[in-house]
Parts: sequence; structure tokens; C-alpha cells
Amino acid sequence: MDQEIIRKIRENTDIVEFIGKYIPLVKKGKNYFGLCPFHNDNNPSLSVSREKQIYKCFVCGEAGNVFNFLMKFENISFLEAVKIIGNEIGISVFLDTPKKEDKNKAFYDIYDLANKFYQNNLLASEGLEARKYLEKRSLDLKVIKEFQIGLSLNKRDSLTKMLQKKGYDLDILNNSGLSSGDNDTYINRIIFPLTNINGIVNGFSGRIYHGEKINKYLNSKETPIFKKGENLFNYNRAKEAVRKDKFVILMEGFMAVIRAYTIDVKNCLATMGTSLTSDQINLIKRLTNVVYLCFDGDEAGINATLNNGKLLSDANFSVKVMPLSDNLDPDDFILKYGREKFYSLISNAISYEDFKIRNLKKGIDFNNSSELSNYINLVLKEISLINDEIEREIMLKNLAKETNVWYNTLEKKLNELLSKPKVVLNTSSLSLKTKPKKNKYEKAMQAILYYMLNYKETITIVENSHVYFPIETYRILVREISYFYEKYGYINMADFKAYIEEKKELNEVLNEIMSLEFEAPTENVILGYLMVIKDYNVALEIKRLENLIMNEVDPIEQAKISNQIRKLRIGSENND
Ligand code: UTP
Ligand code: MN
Repeated sequence: MDQEIIRKIRENTDIVEFIGKYIPLVKKGKNYFGLCPFHNDNNPSLSVSREKQIYKCFVCGEAGNVFNFLMKFENISFLEAVKIIGNEIGISVFLDTPKKEDKNKAFYDIYDLANKFYQNNLLASEGLEARKYLEKRSLDLKVIKEFQIGLSLNKRDSLTKMLQKKGYDLDILNNSGLSSGDNDTYINRIIFPLTNINGIVNGFSGRIYHGEKINKYLNSKETPIFKKGENLFNYNRAKEAVRKDKFVILMEGFMAVIRAYTIDVKNCLATMGTSLTSDQINLIKRLTNVVYLCFDGDEAGINATLNNGKLLSDANFSVKVMPLSDNLDPDDFILKYGREKFYSLISNAISYEDFKIRNLKKGIDFNNSSELSNYINLVLKEISLINDEIEREIMLKNLAKETNVWYNTLEKKLNELLSKPKVVLNTSSLSLKTKPKKNKYEKAMQAILYYMLNYKETITIVENSHVYFPIETYRILVREISYFYEKYGYINMADFKAYIEEKKELNEVLNEIMSLEFEAPTENVILGYLMVIKDYNVALEIKRLENLIMNEVDPIEQAKISNQIRKLRIGSENND
């Protein structure tokens, strides 16, 4: 694509404003800081520079320009990011049709065709009974359209036949999970499409709607485009609402999410009955740090709340709980009590700690002293895990009140627990790659590249020095920077990064260089670094000659080589 257009789009998009739409940024010094969305961040480590128009995370090392941010955030390609940002500022970008056919395209196409087929079925005469069922469940045509609800027919092979007619063979249909042999997988079920994080249909869940009680929902099997643990129901639709509301409501079932949508609660996601995976937690992290758990009111729902609440707390989310009574699920609750009651359930959500304590209390006989003291110890243990001192004090006061035990006694016990060293497992730093240490030569090369990108005078100095960069990636970067500067007459990191985007092998080093921060150099500083690089070449050459000597049998040749080594050593000493 035309570099000029890319540059124009980038120049007209301020990176601080742009990233600020996705994550809150706070100004500190000349840069802006926020929680890095690309790892489990608990302390703002993403720094955004208005001056340089780049961002970088000093914990996970992610760095780049506006395009890179969007690419990473939305999991899209460079060109897609350019297109989206271009559209936002009124510069239209026409993408060429993709060169290489997406290897998953056939699967997506099949699901798209099936989705349309199922939707038509529901609205056709065969769909009458299913429509009645949906109506009985108070799901009107508007919701059916919005969630693209459909119906698989009560026939053995209607979908398989239709797709075969479109040219798909049984092999791929079987691999897609929509057929088994020449039979349809879904027979006579109400079909709820599942989508990936970009809203593209990649699976189905089919519900029985009369009679039988077993296998209520039938879900797509894992395919190249559908990995259950990498999806959350409603993610794409809820994204904006979650960012706006600044919290997400996590539910067990997708019916609950659909129901909440009908009363304009649009920031809901569903786990679909399984425990959160780390991929799913990271997906949520991209949207918010605050999760409200609204799981079913039965025993299983309570356990799921405790279990997922722990996973989320450990990942540094602020977790609240909306407990439902009488074994209701959110769908039943809304139908039974209505919109306003659900809204107050949201505004009265309790902290995850309170929920845990409430749960400990269940079935305890407060008149039985051993049960009571056991309860107190368990609660104290929970309280000791809370970081906030004020919160701890409030909870301790409540415990004193409810158990009639003297506050000071409880406080003493709590302090004992607090003084025990806690094993703090920092999961965020565990998952980060440990970078190998750079030697001084590599550091010098990185410094030179940083200066070339930020202080254009450096480019000429480097060119005139004719210093050979002994590592290929650096050598190519030097060449590319010179080329960029010559062609466009200016240089900066944000545009150079966009220019180099396609060359994946350069990206890692370039990201490291973008994370550096140096003052404006004097010419002597630059020459100093160039000298270090020159020394590296000499050191490499000496090493090569030393190897030669070891393998050389002729003493005269050996003497010659050692003379060469001596000369090189003197030469490099003179450079110091
Ligand atoms: P629930 O059994 O709570 O279903 O399962 P629900 O949301 O209340 O649905 P309705 O009201 O009966 O229609 C919660 C989630 O667990 C998964 C589904 O994703 C469902 O949304 N599940 C449940 C299955 O995958 N298979 C099943 O047989 C049952
Ligand atoms: Mn239900």
C-alpha cells in the first residue's frame, strides 16, 4: 500500500487520544501511562509518548505506533488497522483482495451459509413450532434478528445436502463439525450462532425445544476456527458497552446474556458453563478491570462464582458478585422480577470477599462455640488476604458485631495472620519472556539505531563512518533507515515502524529500540558508540584468527597469523 497514505493517516491520528479511547491514560511527566492491555498488568506500565507518537510497555515489551496498538488489541492485520483508523479520520483505504487465501476461509464460509440457512428455516413454515417456543420464552423477533437465532430442520440431512450443492465435499463438512458422515449434526434444534471476538460466526449451540430432556444444548466441536476456551459469548457485541460502562457482567449461560440484552443491559458475556481460561481472562482484560459475576443461584452457580472469582482476583480484577436467590438464573430472575429489580441487583452488587464470607456463614450454628470459632478463623483468613487496610477494618468490625466477639481480640488474631509472610505469586511477571542480557556491542548498535531514528543528523554520521554492523538484523535496519530518510526526507519511529511492518524479522529488534529512552546525543557520543561496534568487528576477527591458529600445523603460518592478531589488537587499542 501507498506509504504516503499510511503516513497521512498516522500523522492525523494522535496516539494519546487514540489509545485513550481504549484504556484510561494519566499524564506523568511528558508521557501518558495506563494499564497495559497486552499482559496482566496491575500497575500502569504502558507508556504513550505524544512527542514520539509511539507506545511501549516496559514490562512485556510491547511497542509500536497507533496501527500496532489496534492490530494487537483487535487481533487484526496491519492493513486492516490502517483501514479502520483511516476511516475514522475520513481517509478511505481500499484494500487489495488478500493475496493468499485464508486457509480457514472455507470453514468461515460454511458457517456463514449454515447460519443463513438456519435463520431462514426459523422464519419459514417449518419454523412455526420453534417460533412458538421462542415466543413462550418471551424472545421476540427483534432479539431473534439481533442474535441471529435459527432452526435446524427435523430432517436427516438438509444442511449437508445444501452445502454439498454449494460445492463442499463431505470431508470438509465433517471437519467443520456440521455434518457427520452424510447426516447433519444439528437436527431439530433451535440454533444460536457463536462468534469469534470479531463477531464472525465460528460455531453453533443448538437447543432442544420440545420433549426430550437430555443433551439440552449441543455445541460445535473444536475446529480450526472454533476454540471454546478462546471465546466468550457476546464478546464482539458487548465490547463498546463494557468500555463505556467500565465493567462487565459475566454470566454462565448465553440465554441469560440474551435476556439481559432485552432489558438494555448490554455489557454481558457468558462463559457457557465452563471455568474461565487464561485466554478468556485476557480477553476481558482488554475491555475492563472490573467484573461482576452473575451466575446461577444454585449450588453449581455458587461454586462457579467462587472458582471464577478467585481466577479473576488473582489476575488483579476487581470482582463483584450479584447473588441470585431461589436457584434462579439471571434469565428467570429478569422474567420474574423485571428490569428495575435487575438494575438494583447491579447497583447492589457485593464484593467478592463479602460473597465468600457470606458463603462461609451458611449453616453455621452461632450458638455452637466450636462452629463459631471455626467460622471466625475462616473469615479472618479471608480478611487477611485483602490488601486494602480500610476494607479490612470494615470487615473486622462487621465480624465483631455479628459474632459478639471483642474487636481487639479479632484484630490481634488478624495481625498474627498478617505478619506471616504471604507467598505472593506474581502471575503477570511469570508469563513474561525473560530477555537475554545484551552485551555492550549489541547495546551500542541499539543506541546508534535509536539515535538514527530520533536525531536525523546521526544518519549522515553513521553513513560516513562506514562502520560494518556485524549482526545482520541491525545491518538491515541501518540500511532501511538510510533508505527511508533519503526517500522521504525525514525520519521518526512511528512512521518507520509502519514502513517496516511487513518485515517481521526486524520487528522484534525494532520494538526493543523503541523502548529505549536516550537524551539528544553529541557527535562524540555517536562516534564513541560507532567505535565500540568497530571494536566488535575486530574482536570477531581476532576470534576467527585464533581458531585458525589452533587448526594450523605449519609454524610459519602460525606466526603469520599471530602477527595479524597482534596488529589488530594494537589497532583497536589505539582506538580507545
Ligand atoms: P444452563 O443449563 O444454565 O442453561 O447452562 P440456561 O442458560 O439456563 O439455558 P435454558 O434457559 O435452559 O435454555 C448454562 C450454559 O451451559 C452450557 C450452555 O452454554 C449454557 O448456556 N450447556 C448447558 C451446554 O453446553 N450443554 C448443556 O447440555 C447444558
Ligand atoms: Mn435458564
